[in-house]
Amino acid sequence: MRVLILGGDGYLGWPTAMDFAAAGHEVTVADNYLRRRIAEATDSEALIATPSLSQRARVFKAVSGHEIAVRIADLSQAEQMFGIVREADPDVIVHYAEQPSAPYSMRGFQEARETFRNNLDVTFNCIWAVKDIVPDCHIVKLGTMGEYGTPNIDIEEGWIEIEHRGRKDRFLFPRAAGSLYHTTKVLDTDLLWFYVRTYGLRVTDLMQGPVYGLSTDEADLDPALVPNFHYDDIFGTVVNRFLVQAVAGIPLTVYGGGGQTRGYLNLRDTLQCVRLAAENPADKGELRIFNQLTETFTVNELAERVKKVGDGMELNVEIKSIPNPRKEMEEHYYNPVYSGLKELGLKPHFMTDEVLAGMLERIIAHKDDIVTDRIMPRVRWS
Ligand SMILES: NC(=O)c1ccc[n+]([C@@H]2O[C@H](COP(=O)([O-])OP(=O)(O)OC[C@H]3O[C@@H](n4cnc5c(N)ncnc54)[C@H](O)[C@@H]3O)[C@@H](O)[C@H]2O)c1
Repeated sequence: MRVLILGGDGYLGWPTAMDFAAAGHEVTVADNYLRRRIAEATDSEALIATPSLSQRARVFKAVSGHEIAVRIADLSQAEQMFGIVREADPDVIVHYAEQPSAPYSMRGFQEARETFRNNLDVTFNCIWAVKDIVPDCHIVKLGTMGEYGTPNIDIEEGWIEIEHRGRKDRFLFPRAAGSLYHTTKVLDTDLLWFYVRTYGLRVTDLMQGPVYGLSTDEADLDPALVPNFHYDDIFGTVVNRFLVQAVAGIPLTVYGGGGQTRGYLNLRDTLQCVRLAAENPADKGELRIFNQLTETFTVNELAERVKKVGDGMELNVEIKSIPNPRKEMEEHYYNPVYSGLKELGLKPHFMTDEVLAGMLERIIAHKDDIVTDRIMPRVRWS
């Protein structure tokens, strides 16, 4: 397949590009380095410096023999999106190109506006490029489990049948996002659904939980191919923050009560899920939704796991609760369905002690580069 990856410089985009190329697909990546610019502006740079996209593509070609075409472009600008889609003529577009930080989107008016405009414009331009240039192309869009929030009922895979006053119909599952960033993902889904039902596009929307991990078959070929590893309060996920805190010798900071439950997955499984979705496309006129996670646990359970593995490596890990900077429930029901991707063939890699130990070892090698001021929350929801 000809695969176009939007947001190909990102934590997920770069390993996805290598994975598709290694599987024999023809890959183009597009990015405008928005994440790198925000990271620099907010003092949130990754722990391990990563070369530019062109340099990474050169190293990947040298070690694997596979080509990845690189285009630097702002996909929120329609002409740039259209030009790249015309040139790449993709069978599938993997759409990762959004501002993905919840805290950044809650920092103030400019950051909220930028997140809102960027995310909706990229999705809108992607839809129109497909509709007008490559109408058979399958869009694989990254959504987030955060679209659903934490409802007091089981979370279905995107759709729910509702019986009301004796009649039944099928609707998008109710969404109640906890940040402006997550709300842009809800709006993306609604936009996609409108264009799917109106123009017969084919779309898969993957409701993904927080991803962890640095290791993939291709990323392990050369140090220059490592995915971005952020541990700050802006781009770092809770898993990365805890691992870095364990190495830096500072307590793992649990936000509030720590009963927040989320669904997690290994980076290797993101690659599997996206490729499974791409190689088994949605039908024309179908908005197919999968919940993309492999296991759920609370923040307290995550902290205990990191402590257990860290203590085994003589890191003497402590855990400390701090006031929650977010507005979210700290104790709640959480029971998402996530069977669709397993039915397509997903073989999960779970968060074992060995996986956590492997990540801790990688961080220990960069211990001197940790800037501890970046870890504590610098943005409050109210
Ligand atoms: N990483 C996770 O744990 C996670 C979990 C759930 C959902 N997601 C979603 O997956 C996608 C990828 O996440 P990630 O962690 O790789 O984020 P990332 O920030 O590392 O990657 C996104 C990439 O898109 C690029 N981009 C953004 N706007 C652009 C534009 N206008 N033009 C061109 N490029 C643009 C950025 O520069 C960045 O390289 C995001 O949509 C995110 O919301 C990620």
